[in-house]
Amino acid sequence: MLEIADLHASLGRREVLHGVSLTARPGEVLAICGPNGAGKSTLLRAALGEIPTQGHIRLNGHAVGKARPAEMARIRAVLPQDTQVAFAFTVAEIVAMGQEAGDFAADPNLIDQALAAVGLQAHAARSFQTLSGGERQRSHLARALAQVWQPMGPQGPRWLFLDEPVASLDLGHQLQVMRLARAYADDGGGVVAVMHDLNLSAMFADRLAFLIDGRLAAEGPPAEVLTPALLERAYGCRVALNTVPARGPWFVPQACEAP
Ligand SMILES: Nc1ncnc2c1ncn2[C@@H]1O[C@H](COP(=O)(O)OP(=O)(O)OP(=O)(O)O)[C@@H](O)[C@H]1O
Ligand SMILES: [Mg+2]
Repeated sequence: MLEIADLHASLGRREVLHGVSLTARPGEVLAICGPNGAGKSTLLRAALGEIPTQGHIRLNGHAVGKARPAEMARIRAVLPQDTQVAFAFTVAEIVAMGQEAGDFAADPNLIDQALAAVGLQAHAARSFQTLSGGERQRSHLARALAQVWQPMGPQGPRWLFLDEPVASLDLGHQLQVMRLARAYADDGGGVVAVMHDLNLSAMFADRLAFLIDGRLAAEGPPAEVLTPALLERAYGCRVALNTVPARGPWFVPQACEAP
């Protein structure tokens, strides 16, 4: 379980998160949505112990920030929003970095399996810097997957923290990555994914946390959170919602127009 209580975080001289409380459970995909600058990446980085914060953050009972980095690396992996690589590593070498950080360093087939999971098996020997934007993003996802390959471990559930995992991806690869996230949660792991795509969030997330200006504006099942009033408040435009009965009570933002 990821437990966040009364979290405050400042970057530079500005407080960016103003008392966020949130829980994420293993077995679930939690989508974190909200406008640019709302604090989504900051919340994710706080949950990873990467920035100083006030408040309580626990992952599987460990006080994040106080736990040993090597211990945390065994239970959670991250896909950051910005993924730059300074040296000419191959794709396989990038994935190997994740593998070595986690519990699966001895598995000889894992790099191939992780690359196959994101459709990059033919790219293992390519230099990362020659890849397209979407291929780079999927390489880093394969690295994260190789770190926490099995959703359940001896210490309990493992976690994927994904900051805009489908931002650079085409439609087919968006679905591939969201299905991966769904399967990871269905097999007992936890997934926390920052998302701008409300349709994919509604399709794949169990719960959605919506941030506006560093505060949790709404939290719950996507169909309950994604109301026209909230979306207009968040994005400053009108959003038509549409139910799709065959998929149950969920909503598709259909059009965006000036109020
Ligand atoms: N180092 C920093 N110093 C000062 N302000 C910062 C710093 N890093 C981020 N911020 C500000 O904090 C706020 C939250 O940033 P954050 O990256 O969490 O937003 P986000 O919700 O992930 O947005 P996006 O959808 O654009 O990725 C933004 O207003 C941003 O400009
Ligand atoms: Mg961000």
